[in-house]
Amino acid sequence: MYGEEEMERVEKEIKECRHCELCKTRNNPVVGEGSLSAKVMFVGEAPGYYEDLKGRPFVGKAGKVLDELLESVGLQRNEVYITNVLKCRPPGNRNPATAEIKACTPYLDAQLEIIKPEVIATLGNFSLSYIFDKFGLKKDKISKMHGKVFDVSTIASIKKIIPLYHPAVATYNPGMKEVLVEDFKMLFFTLAINTNTNQQQIIFL
Ligand code: URA
Repeated sequence: MYGEEEMERVEKEIKECRHCELCKTRNNPVVGEGSLSAKVMFVGEAPGYYEDLKGRPFVGKAGKVLDELLESVGLQRNEVYITNVLKCRPPGNRNPATAEIKACTPYLDAQLEIIKPEVIATLGNFSLSYIFDKFGLKKDKISKMHGKVFDVSTIASIKKIIPLYHPAVATYNPGMKEVLVEDFKMLFFTLAINTNTNQQQIIFL
């Protein structure tokens, strides 16, 4: 499968990484998981307690919400790719520090290069902020941007970016689940439209 060797190399680098202090307190780094040919990549903030214990992304309470949201649009974990801005847990689940984001995001950049997702779904503010800055997009409040589709053209491809609330919001504010469900519908339609476009291109070729 394309990208396997490259992802293995990134995984090895993350496991051996000592670029910030988080390597001293982590139990396991969380590289990410899913399909290397995924059309959509979800980018969360950082591993939490359970993710750090298991070495897998989104396996705690927020992960349960994410699984339900994926299921609501007929997607399975093994069809998408899920990762985070930070690969190691900040102690006590504190916010990522600027220096940690700077040290860690070359790994996320490498994952984006390998997978080349058509759609990037940011989960929460830190992910939104990093991805929007990376692609030179203007940011606004998540309350204004969530569920909207932003186009970016890179030399290699055209991508769509969809900012989403972090699934954890639904664990302390159940009313937010409905907002996330609606935004996932937008994500699903965006993926469907992109797939149709590709099919048309294949037919014309
Ligand atoms: N929150 C995140 O942002 N990422 C995880 O992997 C788990 C919880």
